[in-house]
Amino acid sequence: MRKSQNNRQSIKSYFAKAGVKFDISEDAWHRQLERLLGADRFDEWQNIRMQRQIDGFDMTHEYQMVESAAEANMLFSMQANVMLAIATWIDTHVSQHTDEPVRIYDLGCGGGALTSWLAAEYPNACVTGIDAIERFVDFASESVSLPNLGFRNWDYREAKPDELPKGDILVSGFGIDFSACTERFSLESDDARELAFYAEKKEEAISYFRRWREICRDDGLLFAVLRTPIYEHFLAVIDAAHETGWSFVEDQSTKLSVDDETFPAMTFQASNSTLINEEQAKAFWIAGIVSERFDRPFLDTMAVAMFNVLNGKQVTQTESKVFDDGHTMVTSIGKRPF
Ligand SMILES: C[S@@+](CC[C@H](N)C(=O)[O-])C[C@H]1O[C@@H](n2cnc3c(N)ncnc32)[C@H](O)[C@@H]1O
Repeated sequence: MRKSQNNRQSIKSYFAKAGVKFDISEDAWHRQLERLLGADRFDEWQNIRMQRQIDGFDMTHEYQMVESAAEANMLFSMQANVMLAIATWIDTHVSQHTDEPVRIYDLGCGGGALTSWLAAEYPNACVTGIDAIERFVDFASESVSLPNLGFRNWDYREAKPDELPKGDILVSGFGIDFSACTERFSLESDDARELAFYAEKKEEAISYFRRWREICRDDGLLFAVLRTPIYEHFLAVIDAAHETGWSFVEDQSTKLSVDDETFPAMTFQASNSTLINEEQAKAFWIAGIVSERFDRPFLDTMAVAMFNVLNGKQVTQTESKVFDDGHTMVTSIGKRPF
């Protein structure tokens, strides 16, 4: 087994050379993006972005604007620290399996920085980046050339191209652009699997995980970091994986916290398993966070978890407010008896 290593610093330098900007303020990022795109295209990008916030979360128009690998990496630099955390986690896991020749797919490879890093770092591996955006695949192929590196244009909600052989390892850093989450929950909801939101997210996730399973050999591995901001979404994702022939490997999974956001970094194995118990899923989701972060505001399941750990609490007041978009916010104020 290859020694477990933490390549964070090397990955950061590699990504920086590929055009990812680290440690710059949002203002500086905007200025640099404007310089790169030119004033007209920058305006166009801002309009698309604004429209996306109104319409919901369809990233395609924004992606379609990109005209070079540098532009793609600049756009993704908005979350450079998140990309780095994801790449480091994926790299650490992949490094354990590269003594033998392995076929790796990077699902939703974007500008291809992680894909080419893996190919350069693990010469035993044959690494293919996959993306639905043809331009990303073209830019990524043009920017780095290695004998064990390739890129494919494939929207993995569609049937897989016939000639795509099965992989041993699949990785994905935010390779699903989930649709917007507009629903909010009452703190009383304790059965996530009953929620319409859960059903919708599970169906969405199934369409991805099913195709991913088709390009993975039996017992192969999937390392995926996905943006599931709330517990109910996370549960929908691991249940979708279960339904499509993946088992969640909890002791090889963790959560990554970057810039105040937390993402599940999940390991799955291509094998059948039993459905995860909801208490177990909830414990995974809140582990480490509730005990460490007493001075922060909490939302959704985190708020419930925090509330639950306050022994002997009493609810003294509950307020409920319905917003124009139809969602209801319930606030419970309580005290601990002394
Ligand atoms: C947020 S970006 C992440 C890019 C890259 N993994 C990174 O960490 O920088 C998501 C990428 O997934 C791709 N993607 C989303 N849905 C896809 C699908 N159904 N099939 C293939 N690629 C998809 C997008 O085109 C985009 O490049």
